[in-house]
Amino acid sequence: MKTPLLNVGKLPPALVARLAQAYALSTLADEKDPAQFLLEHGASFTALTTSAAVGANQALMDQLPHLQVISNFGVGLDKVDVAHAQTRGIAVGYTPDVLNDCVADIAFGLLIDVARGMSAADRFVRAGQWTQGVFPLARKVSGAKLGLVGMGRIGRTIAKRSSGFDMQVRYHTRTPVADVPWSYEPSLLELAAWADFLVVITAGGAGTRHLINAEVLKALGAEGFLINVARGSVVDEAALLLALQNRQIAGAALDVFENEPKVPAAFMAQDNAVLLPHIASATRETRQAMADRVFDNLQAFFSQGILLSAASAP
Ligand code: NAP
Ligand code: 8YV
Repeated sequence: MKTPLLNVGKLPPALVARLAQAYALSTLADEKDPAQFLLEHGASFTALTTSAAVGANQALMDQLPHLQVISNFGVGLDKVDVAHAQTRGIAVGYTPDVLNDCVADIAFGLLIDVARGMSAADRFVRAGQWTQGVFPLARKVSGAKLGLVGMGRIGRTIAKRSSGFDMQVRYHTRTPVADVPWSYEPSLLELAAWADFLVVITAGGAGTRHLINAEVLKALGAEGFLINVARGSVVDEAALLLALQNRQIAGAALDVFENEPKVPAAFMAQDNAVLLPHIASATRETRQAMADRVFDNLQAFFSQGILLSAASAP
């Protein structure tokens, strides 16, 4: 008999098909009355799949009294209540490392774009403005100072990318990292004041909410650029918008937003902002690797009682 699996996440169709072959898969969003479905069938599920944007909160877990394992499509766990899962003895699997390269690539892509004005220049050409004048001069990237807020799996991958651009690198985290060659900066404000480019790649969640606030943006200054590939919640968006409008910082490049997929209309009017729809891990190769990890985590759990990538509470 196949193991009953509940999916609440937004998963790639090929992964859903693969899960449906191996498990007795139910997709909550397909149910006419999801609340009633959980009341009637919640006790039958031992496994749950979800995705980073959806997560799994305490209320959901508690409607699944026999849940043993959660497999999350994504590395960010800000919407998965891992602490509660641990108190219930539920194992949590996720997809670290396999997306480091693609997220670092987009971080650098955003950095170059916002500094050199690539998206703005593209709009300039398409609008036929080139025949009327030249595009304004931009900011040089090579040799600039890169400040990283976060030096985990992805942070160190971004830092490595910077060597090709002869950049100086410093980073800020709560705890210094022993095995990296880059200088630790204990003060976020000092890092912001030093950096030309401040790249945010911390975890999301309550512990980092609005870490990048008006004070940090003021320290970054009129020549500084902010790049956020972590979570929208890490940046105080209202403060950022004001800083962009008043040219208190030079520009911002964002893959993530506080209330995504809703992006405040005022951002659209800012030519010094580059806006992406949360695509940092969105390549065929990386999404396949993430899908494989979601599947393999479940398989390893049910065949050997282990997860290939197990999350623990922060
Ligand atoms: P990780 O290895 O766990 O690294 C997280 C980093 O955040 C650590 O260096 C940690 O250092 C730092 N951090 C946590 N709280 C902090 C705080 N209050 N102040 C300063 N630094 C803090 O995670 P990862 O694999 O690199 O992923 C990082 C995040 O990227 C994920 O959690 C996810 O939200 C985001 N992400 C986004 C996308 C996207 O599509 N845009 C894709 C993948 C991941 P300390 O603990 O020492 O402070
Ligand atoms: C998402 C991400 O997984 O891994 C993360 O934390 O933010 C992304 O890779 C992706 O948007 C699919 O949910």
